[in-house]
Amino acid sequence: MTTHSLLLLPGDGIGPEVMAEVERVVAFFNKKGKVNFKTETALVGGAAYDASGVPVTDETVAKAMAADAVIFGAVGGPKWDKVPYDKRPEAGLLRLRKDLDLFANLRPAICYPALAEASSLKRELVEGLDILILRELTGGTYFGQPKEMVTLENGQRRAVDTTVYTTPEIERIARVAFDLARKRRNLVHSAEKRNVMITGVLWNQTVTAVHEKEAKDVKLEHILADACAMQLVRNPKQFDVIVCDNLFGDMLSDEAAMLTGSIGMLPSASLGAPDPKTGKRRALYEPVHGSAPDIAGKGLANPIAAIASYAMALRYSCDMGREADQIDKAIANTLGRGLRTGDIMQPNMRQIGTKDMGSAILEELAAIA
Ligand code: IPM
Ligand code: MG
Repeated sequence: MTTHSLLLLPGDGIGPEVMAEVERVVAFFNKKGKVNFKTETALVGGAAYDASGVPVTDETVAKAMAADAVIFGAVGGPKWDKVPYDKRPEAGLLRLRKDLDLFANLRPAICYPALAEASSLKRELVEGLDILILRELTGGTYFGQPKEMVTLENGQRRAVDTTVYTTPEIERIARVAFDLARKRRNLVHSAEKRNVMITGVLWNQTVTAVHEKEAKDVKLEHILADACAMQLVRNPKQFDVIVCDNLFGDMLSDEAAMLTGSIGMLPSASLGAPDPKTGKRRALYEPVHGSAPDIAGKGLANPIAAIASYAMALRYSCDMGREADQIDKAIANTLGRGLRTGDIMQPNMRQIGTKDMGSAILEELAAIA
């Protein structure tokens, strides 16, 4: 029997609550007995800081490297507002992304038919929406050096973030964009700010060169990142794959999330390059939503993004596309039954909490799988 090793990193806030529902889905597939998921749980973010003084330990990073997939909850919260900048909860996630070289972040934004009303946009604009934001995840403003705050002689302070990209970093994410588009609607929008940023010029030229050489079969459009933000709310269905740098991807993916009704719905996958020997990619799967400290511990959080992230792990790390489809279908059916967590609540629907949403999805799953 095939064994897949999963490292679970629930983190902070609602992370542990939504991860508990993921664990129930994992147990469901273990009980089916076709494959075996071996899970291990470790601390990350503020929880790790409280226990060990760092937002992720070397030991946890080593486990993440060795796992077939990491399933991540969420990090951060007001409790850790005062910890040193380099030890803040988010630094744990950033270190995992960097050390595992997870350069390709896939953030699908799919609007379930049952949720078209929950979006702040009109139904006809979002119904049937299926776009993919591909965010470069290990470069750009997030990691560029210098990144510092200094006090000047006159007592004023000066802070610097640096945006850096090299051609290989852009080439490899462009290739992923074209590959993904080939399995979808064959269209890539590359978003940058070439009118202001020199990294935008290099981004534009490099994506164009990869397209010329390797991907003429895919349609490529260039779009300024600010115009892309505008078009995403004007006419989101014009897009298929949007590829962009780390910082623009952070923002555009939050924006795209709201098109789907709630950020509580969106999963994501962060992938490394395939290992030349085994073909396996390092991978981390996480809901796009954050730790939501305001509702943490109350059993109110929407576990759908976390469960859908596990489905992405099945698809991209475990070669279990069928089971991933089954989870996605179970989620759609659950929504179709009118069950909603608070974040996606609508008139005439039944509001339930985290656990009941998990149970409903499991029921639907049992009926399908
Ligand atoms: C995300 C989050 C993270 C980011 C934070 C938690 C560091 O907003 O995954 O989009 O900015 O990348
Ligand atoms: Mg973000």
